[in-house]
Amino acid sequence: MTEAERRAALEAIATEIRDCRRCRLHEGRTKAVPGEGHASTEVVFVGEGPGFNEDRLGRPFVGRAGDLLVKHLGSVGWRRDEVFITNVVKCRPPENRDPEPDEIAACAPYLKRQLEILDPALIVTLGRHSMARFMPGARISQAHGTVRPAQPETGVADAMVFAMYHPAAALRSTEVERQSYDDMGRVPNALEEARRRRAERRVAPATTAISPPLLPGPEPVGVATVGTSPAPVSGLARADAGRVERADVAVAVANLPAEPESASANHPGDIPADGADPTNAAGSQDPIDPSDQQTLF
Ligand code: URA
Repeated sequence: MTEAERRAALEAIATEIRDCRRCRLHEGRTKAVPGEGHASTEVVFVGEGPGFNEDRLGRPFVGRAGDLLVKHLGSVGWRRDEVFITNVVKCRPPENRDPEPDEIAACAPYLKRQLEILDPALIVTLGRHSMARFMPGARISQAHGTVRPAQPETGVADAMVFAMYHPAAALRSTEVERQSYDDMGRVPNALEEARRRRAERRVAPATTAISPPLLPGPEPVGVATVGTSPAPVSGLARADAGRVERADVAVAVANLPAEPESASANHPGDIPADGADPTNAAGSQDPIDPSDQQTLF
């Protein structure tokens, strides 16, 4: 799929979302919030649901939680327009309450289709409702800062998922904020790990096609075309999937550091395991919405 095709497909889903009446959340919305970002990015951030400001503007993470997310991204040299940002539910839950399971289920096909189109290497979950879609059964106090393969039922073909606290939780607790910066610092390594995994899995079929010694067949393509492949991927935008050939994968592999530090290790500094979950809150810190201040989940 080319980038233009991907953009068009995402826009078609966004149009459906803006008209959606699959659950009760449409009744209270000002604007649905389908998500936004780079159509060819390798990284998708998934929050929980729009808050007050997002509902007014129809854009994800534009309140205080969004400002903090932008700071988190900046701490590793990334910008929000280089990634794709969306939510588990696309309409604001009243008073920023938690989305109900049936609301999440009604919205799930949209997220799944967005991920099928985006085909990211890495998903970063923000908060426990988002994490629950990709790491069922995990506890955020233990899973934050860790990475694991994403299940194909989520819509991704071959991706890793990295869990973070919701930025609104970091706004409420300096300890969670510190841990969130720590976690964000691990995201680039998680992306390297995801890229390496994808490259290995995509190179494998080429090896079997080339290696049987006795079978006549087409000329091997892997080595012969390395020198003529398009420029390697820059930033977080990958080459169009339709044009990624084995030669491109070889270039990508060659550019990886020899032994990137694993992002999957647990690390010290978890918040006290007192059972309380300090996360969540869709836009709950946006000062212009007084109800946000009361519903901190
Ligand atoms: N919180 C979320 O989870 N999503 C948004 O878009 C904004 C705040």
